[in-house]
Amino acid sequence: MDKIVVEGGSRLTGRIPISGAKNAALPLLCAALLPAGPSTWKNVPQLADVRTMAKLLRMLGWEVEGTTTLNIAPPSGAKGKRKLKLEAPYDLVKTMRASVLVLGPLVARFGRARVSLPGGCAIGARPIDQHLKGLQAMGAKVTLEHGYVDVECKRLQGATIMLDMPTVTGCENLLMAAALAKGRTVIENAAREPEVEELALVLNKMGAKITGAGTANITIEGVDELQSIEHSIIPDRIEAGTFAVAAAMTKGDVLLEGARPEHLEAVTAKLRAAGVTVQAEAGGMRVKSDGELTAVDIVTQPHPGFPTDMQAQFMVMACVAKGQSVIKEMIFENRYMHVPELGRMGADIQISGRTAIVRGGMKLTGASVMATDLRASASLILAGLVASGKTEVLRVYHLDRGYEAIEKKLRGVGAKIKRAKDA
Ligand code: EPZ
Repeated sequence: MDKIVVEGGSRLTGRIPISGAKNAALPLLCAALLPAGPSTWKNVPQLADVRTMAKLLRMLGWEVEGTTTLNIAPPSGAKGKRKLKLEAPYDLVKTMRASVLVLGPLVARFGRARVSLPGGCAIGARPIDQHLKGLQAMGAKVTLEHGYVDVECKRLQGATIMLDMPTVTGCENLLMAAALAKGRTVIENAAREPEVEELALVLNKMGAKITGAGTANITIEGVDELQSIEHSIIPDRIEAGTFAVAAAMTKGDVLLEGARPEHLEAVTAKLRAAGVTVQAEAGGMRVKSDGELTAVDIVTQPHPGFPTDMQAQFMVMACVAKGQSVIKEMIFENRYMHVPELGRMGADIQISGRTAIVRGGMKLTGASVMATDLRASASLILAGLVASGKTEVLRVYHLDRGYEAIEKKLRGVGAKIKRAKDA
């Protein structure tokens, strides 16, 4: 297994290229199951999760070729039809919950699908009851047994679906299912994340008729078929936010190339409240700080609220800001796994239920720490950038799921950071 070794104390200055968004690429690769012809995806981030999704599509019978540009072609001809396999197996789904996103497209296109239940993960139980409730509302028969969900429906019918919570992948699954359903579907209490909006935009490019994406009410007029397309994936707002915090904590001055300010408004507001300069600049976002950071309180919420995927990163910034910060994680029930590891570096964080009280003004010291989930791993790298001495982050396979060449990008702006083999 690899580890990442960081020597604290460098000021980050220069330009960081932001990669395509993981949480846009994953649903978009599943959308490639919908048209009868091939599709091409550009600006694809080189991530473990994207490779896992490509592997899943190949297991289903699709051809997937390329790296930063992916060409995806459906099984064709008699041989192709024989290759068609409408099942996402446990040994793959257990490594990546987003595999569940093949459900909507497969049922919409082929009338059935069998997908392993994702099970929990490090940050929480993460059920898919809303995904299934929506498909049932559209006429699907859902059977749960032996850890798999079987979904069948000759032709999905449009329906009005009120989601219990604005689930991101739940919404994405139902958007893809409704695109080919018969009649009108309305998703109420829909997720408003930019990645949901991007999926709707791409489905409309394929010929779908979706309005309201980006709001809490999305209307989809079903069509009979969707067309092949080519599309470039939007930049990763969470990667950009992560590097913005790195610049803020290291008295840095960094241009986040390709970052879209409109995708990061809640994060930008909190950075500015902490005393960080954030401004849109030609082709991206510029983040500058003199290192004097003021404590800010955070409550994670569905978009456009403060993103849960930025909570761990802001917790590290809170450790070195002046004053006490109160952080409330309202989306996932177990997303404080980074706290004990930060404690080993000298952080003083008290957890009570969903609330974390972070004492500011701490001098962090380098240590060997364990990555536990994707964003926790990123927060440990950030802590290493400001800690005195050396920090070793172990089990960086968590990091590689969602950050493309993070050590290379940080080294490019002056960080003393490298990847090494863990004995
Ligand atoms: C997406 O996960 C993202 N993943 C997550 O990013 C992100 O943290 C999350 O949205 C919230 O923004 C992808 O887009 C691939 P949810 P998702 O369904 O869709 C509950 C990262 O670090 N829920 O919006 O799985 C659920 O348990 C990852 O990049 C149900 O109860 O999240 C959670 O508490 C981590 N039933 C809440 O809703 C359901 O059917 C939000 O989950 C679905 C969800």
